[in-house]
Amino acid sequence: MSTQTLLQLNASVFSVHGQSSQLANRFVKGFVQREPSTQVVARDLAKDTVPHLDAERFQAFLAPADARTPAQQAVVDFSDALISELQAADVIVLGLPMYNFGVPSQLKAYFDHVARAGITFRYTATGPEGLLTDKKVYVFAARGGIYQGTPADTQTQYVKDFFRFIGITEVEFVYAEGLNMGDESKANALAQAHQQIERLSA
Ligand SMILES: Cc1cc2nc3c(=O)[nH]c(=O)nc-3n(C[C@H](O)[C@H](O)[C@H](O)COP(=O)(O)O)c2cc1C
Repeated sequence: MSTQTLLQLNASVFSVHGQSSQLANRFVKGFVQREPSTQVVARDLAKDTVPHLDAERFQAFLAPADARTPAQQAVVDFSDALISELQAADVIVLGLPMYNFGVPSQLKAYFDHVARAGITFRYTATGPEGLLTDKKVYVFAARGGIYQGTPADTQTQYVKDFFRFIGITEVEFVYAEGLNMGDESKANALAQAHQQIERLSA
């Protein structure tokens, strides 16, 4: 049986209590049952927050390695550690809530720290090239309303585009929508998402 590394990123501000985290956990549990040798690395973006990218932090990324100040080196070390986790992962599981029509700012801050020129992507004469390869992403999207397939779904294309930019093209979504539209809607949405998770784990 092959040993795989699975990186679980939970983006809910409610940590393990978030609906997206619970769906992601359910998938990871099934995955590990199927592949018991899987090494799971969990990162809770609500607990271990990633600072917003500002000019100072971005400057640290651009500074030549031998000219970095200690503060800049600390910023680079932090970003490098996040990237190492991604590089080591065969499978990435993302718990993705919708907040105010977008992805949680915690996740955006994380993306801003793992998109590093020369490390996770590079520009070539024919356009950008992602440098992370052979990984699959599963996204568990929890939403109060219903957006899938409409222009108001600002998350699906964005998340796919981001992962493609760093080289990961296999991105599969499981949605639980209408979670704030009454008990029946919530129960149906979760039941459907659970069924999909079971299919993915079969
Ligand atoms: C601050 C905040 C903003 C939200 N904004 C939206 C929104 O724009 N659209 C939507 O459908 N649901 C919205 N919701 C509902 C969440 O998408 C829903 O509660 C979902 O379960 C969140 O995922 P989580 O439980 O994993 O955190 C919002 C919830 C919160 C707490």
